[in-house]
Amino acid sequence: MEHELADIRAAAIAAIQAADSVDAIEEIRIRYLGRKGSLTLLLRSLGNIPAEQRAAAGKRANEFKNEIESALEQKKNELTSTAARDLLRAQWIDVTLDCATATQREDLGRLHPISQIQYEIEDIFASMGFEILDGPEVETDYYNFEALNMPRHHPARDMQDTFWTEDGNLLRTHTSAIQIRGMEKVSPPFRIVGPGRVFRYESTDASHENTFYQVEGMMVDRDINVAHLIFVMKQLLKEIFQREAVVRLRPGYFPFVEPGFELDIQCLICNGAGCSVCRQSGWVELLPCGLVHPNVLRMGGIDPKEWSGFAFGLGLNRLVMMKYGINDIRHFLSGDIRFLRQF
Ligand code: DAH
Repeated sequence: MEHELADIRAAAIAAIQAADSVDAIEEIRIRYLGRKGSLTLLLRSLGNIPAEQRAAAGKRANEFKNEIESALEQKKNELTSTAARDLLRAQWIDVTLDCATATQREDLGRLHPISQIQYEIEDIFASMGFEILDGPEVETDYYNFEALNMPRHHPARDMQDTFWTEDGNLLRTHTSAIQIRGMEKVSPPFRIVGPGRVFRYESTDASHENTFYQVEGMMVDRDINVAHLIFVMKQLLKEIFQREAVVRLRPGYFPFVEPGFELDIQCLICNGAGCSVCRQSGWVELLPCGLVHPNVLRMGGIDPKEWSGFAFGLGLNRLVMMKYGINDIRHFLSGDIRFLRQF
């Protein structure tokens, strides 16, 4: 009995020391201490030995059992912490490492050139006290046409080929709709700009797109006149092009302004001498604008006898094209990564 016990103990301890995983530990536990484990069976057979030896043998057997149990426990703990350490080591991240290699950095996204200029323009206007407003891309006839002094059947509606929805709404053809929404939100005196995407039902070519971007602007106060308009426009252009801009106004017709103008900028390439960009004229047509038509003010609930204002519609695609010498408007929505990577 004594020998048998000693053998089992020695074998169990040796097996525990050699175990290399938590699973192996469990197997050893079952082999020795399980219901049919060798030590368990031995303990059970104690009843067969003579009574005078039983007490001592039982005590010894229990000591061994405890010894094996604690050895199992200790080894299990050791193995668990080693496994955890190995796992940590394998998953270790050096947070001080430079996060991207040069090629990965190349693949990082960036702002579309139109977004870049839009944010730049928003900042410029904000610095001049303009509030930035938003409006929906699917508009009603009222905001896009009617309230802008273009009642149903007004011929000027044909100036803008329109995508109509089946329920009689439309994709806004210009951000001028934001003027009307603006007048509903704020009361005079105010200065607002409304950037956004606009849509025209047109076939595309190098200078026409069915989807493009504008920034609408409107300032209403007492005694606003054309000088205010010219000043703000020159200030804007100076900031964008980082140089003094020479501008001129030509008459232009838009139902929502009176008088209406086309504002031209002296060609920045040839300084007005004439080149291929300005088609030898020395001037580039840049943005339509004017003094807000009294009917439009009235539609916005503003009394034209008390207040006056100017408005303008700046085409962003054209501006970016001029800034970077881009010769085809279709690049912007082409999704061509080689084009976009340049900005
Ligand atoms: N909404 C016009 C267009 O897209 C542009 C425009 C012209 C806006 C004159 C204005 C303006 O605010 O005064 O063709």
